[in-house]
Amino acid sequence: MTSNRYPGRFIVLEGLDGSGQTTQAQLLVKWLQDKRNQPAYYTKEPTDGPVGAMLKLALSHRLTSPGDKKDHRPIDPITMALWFAADRADHLYNEIIPKLRDGVTVVADRFYLSSLAYQSITLDYSWIREINRDALRPDLTVFLDVPPRICVKRMQTQRWHVELYEDLSTLEKVGKNYHECIRQLQVNGERIELVDGNKPAAEVHGAVVERLKQFFKAASEQQSRSASATQEQLALISGTDPLSEVEIAEHQEG
Ligand code: TMP
Repeated sequence: MTSNRYPGRFIVLEGLDGSGQTTQAQLLVKWLQDKRNQPAYYTKEPTDGPVGAMLKLALSHRLTSPGDKKDHRPIDPITMALWFAADRADHLYNEIIPKLRDGVTVVADRFYLSSLAYQSITLDYSWIREINRDALRPDLTVFLDVPPRICVKRMQTQRWHVELYEDLSTLEKVGKNYHECIRQLQVNGERIELVDGNKPAAEVHGAVVERLKQFFKAASEQQSRSASATQEQLALISGTDPLSEVEIAEHQEG
């Protein structure tokens, strides 16, 4: 994984299906734009690109492999892992990097940590790392920690169909993998923060914003050591409030 040398910051939100990472990634973009006046961009994997479209069909059981008996089997895990990596390359070179180059903060709803946690249920962890080795390393990843049974409960009330990885026993394995992968990546110096996602959306948003402020503060202090950011800038960063409950409700209605 290569580190980000572009002017824009690259932030990733991660979590189990039903953990609320999509809502939180979108709220974060709104906070960056409205409260910090910062150009920010929301994006998601699987993408709307060509490989992402195949993935979405496979995840919702609408794309199968004919099979030798023409019995239409699910796409095999190795192919899925390669598709996720290919979708990521397409995403990175056509969407994420151009934005980062323009100085925009990119907030991605899932990135390679999802592949490491989900695909390693059945495949070798180091092979998944290998096929993702050219992916850009996020500046910060926030993992929303929600117990698998709560995720399943939330999905039962919000969704009309069940996707490939959305049953309890799969999510329990993925949850364990997430924690293990996070530990390993942290050991390698990756900045990954855990946030308790089993709370109302506004509270989770406040905690995510807090992690972001700490990250910006550390980045700014580092910059100021190499003689740029002023004390005034630091004060501004630590004083920025999260979105209010009213602003969050407006976002969710719109
Ligand atoms: P979502 O759109 O609800 O986030 O669902 C995407 C699904 O795809 C979710 O079950 C996680 C899974 N996934 C992987 O298995 N590997 C990956 O690399 C990514 C990005 C997603």
